Order: sequence, then C-alpha cells, then structure tokens
Amino acid sequence: MAMNSLYDIDLSGKYVLLRDDFNVQIVDGKITDLFRIESSKKTIDFLVNHGAKVVICSHFGRPNGQVDKDLSLKFVADFLHIPFIPDCLDKSFLSNMKNGDVVLLENLRFYTGEENNDDDFAKKLATGFDLYINDAFAVSHRKCASIIGITKYLPAYPGFLLLYEIENLTNILQNTHKPLFAFIGGAKISTNLGLLKKLVTIADALIVGGGMGTTFAYSHGYNVGNSLCEKNMVDVVLEIESIAQQHNCQIFYPLDKGVGENFDKNATRENRSIKNIYDTDVIMDRT
Ligand code: 3PG
Ligand code: MG
Repeated sequence: MAMNSLYDIDLSGKYVLLRDDFNVQIVDGKITDLFRIESSKKTIDFLVNHGAKVVICSHFGRPNGQVDKDLSLKFVADFLHIPFIPDCLDKSFLSNMKNGDVVLLENLRFYTGEENNDDDFAKKLATGFDLYINDAFAVSHRKCASIIGITKYLPAYPGFLLLYEIENLTNILQNTHKPLFAFIGGAKISTNLGLLKKLVTIADALIVGGGMGTTFAYSHGYNVGNSLCEKNMVDVVLEIESIAQQHNCQIFYPLDKGVGENFDKNATRENRSIKNIYDTDVIMDRT
C-alpha cells in the first residue's frame, strides 16, 4: 500500500492536525498505562523538531456526542505540559501558534459528528490546517470523522506509530515462522473479526483471553453470568473454529476464572471453574 511520507514534505510553519489515540485507562484520577501516550511521542517530537505547529486531537471514552466533564482530555494535556483547547472545533488559537508549538484539543466524541463520520464535522475539524496525520492505529478501524471524513479535506500522512503497527502486523501475517502461537485479548470479537479469521489460517494455536475468551466459552454452552460477552457472536465463533479446523489451528480459551459480584476493582475475587459460574457472577480475571 503506497502512503505519503512525512520525510517528503517541508513541515516548517505548517499547521498539522495530528490524530492520536489517548484513550488511556484512568484509575482514581491517575493514568495507569502510559503506553499509548509514550508511543505517540516519536511523531510529536519529529513534528516539533521540523517546526510544525502541532494540534493533537483524540477521543476518550464513549460520551456519545455529549459533553461529559469526566471524559475531558485535559488530564492528558496537563500530563504532557501542553496547552489545552476546550472545544475541538475552536480555531481561534491557531493564529497565536509558533513553529514547534503543540496543543491538545478536547475530546472529539463530545460531538455526534465525530462518531457519525459527519461530512460537515470533518470539514469544520479540517479548517485551518495544512495537513493531517493519523497516528491512532487503535481506533483506525472506526469509521469516524477524524479518521475517515477528514481525509477528504486534508492531505493525509501516516504517523510513525501507525507505520510501526502496520509493519509489525504485516510482518506477522506475511513472514510467518512456525510454530506460531497467537495470543489475543480484548472486549470484542466483532471488531477483531478479520484478524481472528486470518490468524487461524496461519497459527498453530490461537489463545483467546479477555472478553473474547468469555464469548468463546459462552458459544460452547457455558454460563457466563453477567460478564462482558458478545452473545450475538456465537455463529461467528463457530465459523472461526471451523476455519481453524480446516487449517489445523487449535483454539484455547480460559476455563478457570476469577469472578466478582460486580465489575469493580474492589470486588472480592473468587476463583471458579467456568462450569460453576452463577448468574450474578462477573468474570474479570483480575489478579
Ligand atoms: C480503544 O481503546 O480500543 C480505541 O481507542 C477505540 O476505542 P472505542 O472502542 O471506544 O472506539
Ligand atoms: Mg480497542
């Protein structure tokens, strides 16, 4: 796939809209995992060092188009020690930016236009910028305005994190070394469908954990109580298993569970076999 390269352009003085994924986990007001923020620094530093005026945008949580102060991105701006713009469609600050400046916009998902990939929202978001960079691999499967619609209005470039993720994935899928064991976790089979179907054709074994593992267990008739589970994915699970069988790939999912009475970090853990999950149990597998 041919892509534009940041190395080919003069970035000095250019207004750059940089899409990052700062959808990080917060517990008691503290960021618990800095991976996403730290991984985005390479592109930010490159842009700063080349004199661009960098405006970062991101989503955080799922506010469904409503302003929700608990889902403000201000904490990330504070963490990065950069100015925060409380409305992602406000452009008044642009004229005050100097080369090498970096600011962060408020949560894109405070507008319904973001998640609906609304053309008018994408156009407004693009206004005032010279180019757009996608460095938000983790949300690039979503058809939203800051990922898809925006590319109609600005020349689009991949950031270094996006390139790194694509390179890794391509390497795994194309240069497979046997034996290959693939581990996958996360909440939803529905958003990882293509990857799961591909992995079972190249791996010797697929180990499925997290919410997806629970959906596999549910598809085999186990009670999963009140756990995170995509109950409408049973046919899909069976299809993935059938593809796996054709390619001699074994699928494993956890049968020993850590459960609690609700999805809360303070919930009391009980260890149970998947055969003994009660209707009120929530599988969390926390340590
Ligand atoms: C993620 O955390 O998986 C990405 O940021 C995408 O978030 P979403 O599932 O709310 O679209
Ligand atoms: Mg995700």
